[in-house]
Amino acid sequence: MSEINYGPLAGLIGTWKGDKGVDIAPEPSGTENNPYYETITFEAIGDVENAETQTLAILFYTQIASRKSNDEVFHHQSGYWTWDAETGVITQSFSIPRGVSVVASGRVLDSDDIPAHVVKIEVSAEESGFDGGIAQSTFMQKNARTNTFSQVLALDGDTLSYEQTTMLDIYHKTFEHTDNNSLTRQK
Ligand code: HEM
Repeated sequence: MSEINYGPLAGLIGTWKGDKGVDIAPEPSGTENNPYYETITFEAIGDVENAETQTLAILFYTQIASRKSNDEVFHHQSGYWTWDAETGVITQSFSIPRGVSVVASGRVLDSDDIPAHVVKIEVSAEESGFDGGIAQSTFMQKNARTNTFSQVLALDGDTLSYEQTTMLDIYHKTFEHTDNNSLTRQK
């Protein structure tokens, strides 16, 4: 069996913990600011072939975040990161228990500001985009609709940080729901 090449995703494999999370979330009267801690686990699960032409290397992940104020889990997410070695396209597909699933795609970012040892990946999705999309329940479409999702991940050795923005239509306005954290690889 040949060794699977996880490309830019290889450095993610493992368990990560971080307690510097900042969540800005909607509430009827305005904005909720929730400091949080979380564990993200990436597991290498092999590759898959699509339509006998596309080969994707796959990581399965779970992300479990808890509010610092009461230690309760307040965000639970699971899905896949895939890498297509032929095109360089990276896809993050995931679900959250509110009845929302996202397929976001992107690439490794390449710019003079990014040191050679840092891997930065950007992915994004629009509700009915060509490169992915967002599926949501009828209730969520009507009351708490996710319009776009975007995320930048930065991997620097044993430090992983992310910033993400989820644009919502909720409580009769558009709300920029953001989350960021910095995590450390567990030995
Ligand atoms: C670390 C990541 C995230 C955290 C910690 C988080 C946390 C929260 C919190 C605290 C709320 C306010 C409602 C509540 O108190 O339960 C909320 C609302 C919401 N989030 Fe997130 N979220 C995250 C990521 C996402 C992502 C990636 C999506 C979708 C792609 C999403 C979609 C929503 C939606 C649709 C709502 C509105 C539901 C409502 O308030 O009734 N969230 N989130």
